[in-house]
Amino acid sequence: MRDLQIIKQRFGIIGNYEGLNRAIDIAAQVAPTDLSVLISGESGTGKEIFPQVIHSYSSRKHGSYIAVNCGAIPEGTIDSELFGHEKGSFTGATDSRKGYFEVADGGTIFLDEVAELPLSTQVRLLRVLETGEFIRVGSSKVLKTNVRVIAASNIDVPGAIENGKFREDLFYRLNTVPIIVPALRERGEDILLLFRKFSVDFAEKYRMPAIRLDSEAKNMLLNYRWPGNVRQLKNITEQVSIIEGEREVIASTLRKYLPESGGTKLPAIINKNDEKLFSSEREILYKILFDMKSDMNDLKKLVLDLIRRGEIDVKFHESNSGVIKNLFREVNSQDSDIDNSITPEADFPQYQTRNIIQDTEEIIEESLSLSDKEIEMIKKALEKYNGKRKMAAKELGISERTLYRKIKEYGIE
Ligand SMILES: Nc1ncnc2c1ncn2[C@@H]1O[C@H](COP(=O)(O)OP(=O)(O)OP(=O)(O)O)[C@@H](O)[C@H]1O
Ligand SMILES: [Mg+2]
Repeated sequence: MRDLQIIKQRFGIIGNYEGLNRAIDIAAQVAPTDLSVLISGESGTGKEIFPQVIHSYSSRKHGSYIAVNCGAIPEGTIDSELFGHEKGSFTGATDSRKGYFEVADGGTIFLDEVAELPLSTQVRLLRVLETGEFIRVGSSKVLKTNVRVIAASNIDVPGAIENGKFREDLFYRLNTVPIIVPALRERGEDILLLFRKFSVDFAEKYRMPAIRLDSEAKNMLLNYRWPGNVRQLKNITEQVSIIEGEREVIASTLRKYLPESGGTKLPAIINKNDEKLFSSEREILYKILFDMKSDMNDLKKLVLDLIRRGEIDVKFHESNSGVIKNLFREVNSQDSDIDNSITPEADFPQYQTRNIIQDTEEIIEESLSLSDKEIEMIKKALEKYNGKRKMAAKELGISERTLYRKIKEYGIE
């Protein structure tokens, strides 16, 4: 049990719930063996840390560790990603390429969202698990590799087997050792421990005092159903930390952040409902954006006021002229509460009103549709992380798979 505490500390795992301890304990026990492990648990329960624990406590720890999100790779390229391909094996294959199973020889591969693998890939995977053999796409040469496979799924794999989406033989092969990560709603007091941890983390990140809960608010957290599990608790803690000025959070405040669809604990729906969760998270995201916008407007008013009262030094003002110009443009076009006759020309004639007016139309025509906003935010997040979906999804507070689905749905490049 001493090991348990060390592992938790090393990997930043919070909680003492028996089911969580059991899961960590199994991971530690199975680590030194080469057995395949299947990690199951609802979305957001914290499955991703387990393969890392297993790899680090295995004799492969100096070998490579590759995490593959099977749900985020298009069906057409997954075989080539996993097993490699030969030059000319498909359009665009200008070179031969090693797949993850070749690269990770001597190491560990984590197949996240394994139930998303196409059936044909499942056949290849079963073969490599059973014999260590695989074939690159477009080749007939049998290659060998020595890879330990750890898989995870947030959907009910036996259900997928029944629907003909997952091979039963592969399931038994992967599920040699099952690890079940408990849902947050089962973890009792751990919910409060996690809340405290996240609130302290966000306080540090945003440089403000940590939020606290009164006892009624604590009960509310304990009785909520948490369809998005730890990820949802983390997101909500962040939202409350940012939005609420009052650091002592009471139940009626907290309620605004807990989507109704989450309900209370009783009628447990096994299948995750990512979409619903996402739409309520999106609403909160918009609230954050709108609140930020209103703060921005307040700041703009303040700057405007300071300039008018001559409290901003002209030199400083000139060196920031671009910024200030933008500031005024937006104040004038977007905020009807602001006196539009106030322009910086009065004090600083070098600024051109004409530009300000021209831009107004553009801004008024800005799309207010939610899906357009969603597309825009997805694009921005992807740009910010150079197309790295994992990071972008994290930033957007959605799973990578949801992001992948949205990219497909909206046809985002
Ligand atoms: N016990 C825990 N202590 C601290 N942080 C946790 C814990 N469990 C989960 N988290 C955090 O919650 C978030 C979600 O966890 P993770 O990404 O592992 O979920 P998941 O089970 O892989 O979900 P999905 O099936 O949707 O991919 C992460 O930010 C993770 O760090
Ligand atoms: Mg995951």
